[in-house]
Amino acid sequence: MVRTKIKSALSASQPGETIKVCGWVRTRRDSKSGFSFVELNDGSCMANLQIVIDQNVSDYESTIKDVTTGASITVSGKVNESPGQKQRVELHAESFQLYGTADSESYPLQKKRHSFEFLRDIAHLRPRTNTFGAITRVRNEVAAAIHRFFQTREFLYIQTPIITTSDCEGAGEMFQVTTLNLEHLAQIQTKIDFSQDFFGKPASLTVSGQLEAEIFATSVGECYTFGPTFRAENSNTSRHLAEFWMVEPEMPFYDLNDNMALAESFVRTVIGDVLENCSEDMEFFNQRIDKTTLETLRNITENEFIRVPYTEAIEIVKSSGKKFDFPIDWGSDMQSEHERFLTEEHFKQPVIVYNYPRTIKPFYMRCNDDDKTVCAMDVLVPGVGEIIGGSQREERYDVLIDRMKEGKLNPDDYWWYTDLRKYGTVPHSGFGLGFERLIQLITSMTNIRDCIPFPRTPKNAEF
Ligand code: 4AD
Ligand code: MG
Repeated sequence: MVRTKIKSALSASQPGETIKVCGWVRTRRDSKSGFSFVELNDGSCMANLQIVIDQNVSDYESTIKDVTTGASITVSGKVNESPGQKQRVELHAESFQLYGTADSESYPLQKKRHSFEFLRDIAHLRPRTNTFGAITRVRNEVAAAIHRFFQTREFLYIQTPIITTSDCEGAGEMFQVTTLNLEHLAQIQTKIDFSQDFFGKPASLTVSGQLEAEIFATSVGECYTFGPTFRAENSNTSRHLAEFWMVEPEMPFYDLNDNMALAESFVRTVIGDVLENCSEDMEFFNQRIDKTTLETLRNITENEFIRVPYTEAIEIVKSSGKKFDFPIDWGSDMQSEHERFLTEEHFKQPVIVYNYPRTIKPFYMRCNDDDKTVCAMDVLVPGVGEIIGGSQREERYDVLIDRMKEGKLNPDDYWWYTDLRKYGTVPHSGFGLGFERLIQLITSMTNIRDCIPFPRTPKNAEF
């Protein structure tokens, strides 16, 4: 018999039907009169299916004691209307088989609630918990919604390299890639030139697929990447990962305003899709993680984002009278505390800050006529701060070369990038969304390490 997933058993199976389900036992309760209730979960949804196994089922007496939390079983039986309020149906076992036991002394996931810190150390088992099952399903829906958003707007999904020689953000936060056998070299005591070690050339893990995406935007039109990116920044914060996923759309003939409009519509549409398609899991986050989750997300889908120029944003922060850990002045980068003040306390809504000082932004952003600012934009949201960074790109060859030199980059290393300005250059724009930061916003999880299956941080790279 084909296995029925618990999600569809609970929503669609009819009383009288015979079905087979498989999964991991959450709890077992034995009655005195010779039968047991088993709560079974298979990860397809938050809810467990209640299974009644009585002593007439063969092997009941010999096996039931091993059907403990964490054990894996398969059960065939009849669907019955459930006498309880909680669920529509339950399953009366006609036969069951124990696949694997889980020793209750040593099984790390006991019935009690575990801290997220503890669960991070057992990343191989945490998807079996309610919270991480829900995060996994929501992450899947967010990814699907992102592809739907771009595919329905005829953006092409493109793949950019992981190993690269260009430092898109110019921040020097790249992980070096090496083909050298370091152990061997240490043994023969050879001096290593780390700047020349990918088959004799320097190479790193990408911090962004943007520069390569620009190649495709200026040839096949609107496109987007969705892949892993890497930052060797030693930031032990609740919103930084060394390895995270980024979504980077790039659009020809878009100016900064078009870019901001797309970013806003993107965030609002994706969140709307998740609210609609993951209602059970979203209800869980609202009840268990943060009681304002649904209200915040509905507010985002229903209201337009605020747009403020950087200069005005700094004025608002400075004149608030609020004490911040980091003082701020025109020309300095906003810290997360300032971003969160703007979106959580001042506007109480997502904010797009644009036209940042050129001195704090990368070389590729288009210079404004004031000579002081660039066509940059950051989308800030409550609870997280920056989730999107983007800009209109510098399409003027001479200005771009000057900006590269200003940033101590050698234009010759980016000859292919500057070629795009030599041959048929066009105004174009794009942005990058931190996928895990969006998951953080949607689930209200306070630590970004809980928004990716296997977090890579300075402290954590075990699995
Ligand atoms: O603002 P960033 O650095 O922008 C870029 O990389 C551009 N090249 C994107 C583009 O225009 N195509 O990064 C974009 C977003 C940030 O807004 C943030 O959400 C996320 O990526 N991000 C991180 N997420 C987790 N951990 C980190 N260490 C992150 N660094 C950036
Ligand atoms: Mg940024």
